Amino acid sequence: MNDAEYIMLTNSLHGYEVQVEAEGRRRGLGQRVLKVLEKLAHSTRMRCVRLTALTHNPSAVAFFKACGYSLDETSPPKEEASHYEILSKTTIQDGSVGDTPQTVGDNLEQMVIS
Ligand SMILES: CC(C)(COP(=O)(O)OP(=O)(O)OC[C@H]1O[C@@H](n2cnc3c(N)ncnc32)[C@H](O)[C@@H]1OP(=O)(O)O)[C@@H](O)C(=O)NCCC(=O)NCCS
Repeated sequence: MNDAEYIMLTNSLHGYEVQVEAEGRRRGLGQRVLKVLEKLAHSTRMRCVRLTALTHNPSAVAFFKACGYSLDETSPPKEEASHYEILSKTTIQDGSVGDTPQTVGDNLEQMVIS
């Protein structure tokens, strides 16, 4: 793997577990959690957000896809019949220098509160 490929694969924010209590589901909370992750990734100049979904949990995959995620290049090939897959969503980078740690914190606090 060359340096450019290494940076492309590693410059991401990876979430392993997203969970909303059963009685709070289907009210947009999960989607909101992902938006916070995406904002954090964007603010810290991560190329994408990657999420792991267990293959025996099709509703998680449906949720991630509904939120705009698709199968990532690093996901194990279907032939491997792996117990997990990796989905990702690109973080749009506009070429700006990115936020300072202070503004990242302020922005996230604002998103969680509002
Ligand atoms: C997956 C989970 C985090 C989703 O959280 P949520 O707050 O219920 O999700 P949202 O309300 O934001 O859903 C957004 C969209 O995702 C899709 N979606 C969510 N849950 C779904 C499900 N069980 N089956 C199919 N699609 C689903 C829908 O399109 C939904 O929009 P809609 O309600 O308008 O149809 C939640 O169901 C959960 O905690 N599950 C148990 C833990 C888990 O499986 N986590 C994921 C793997 S780590």
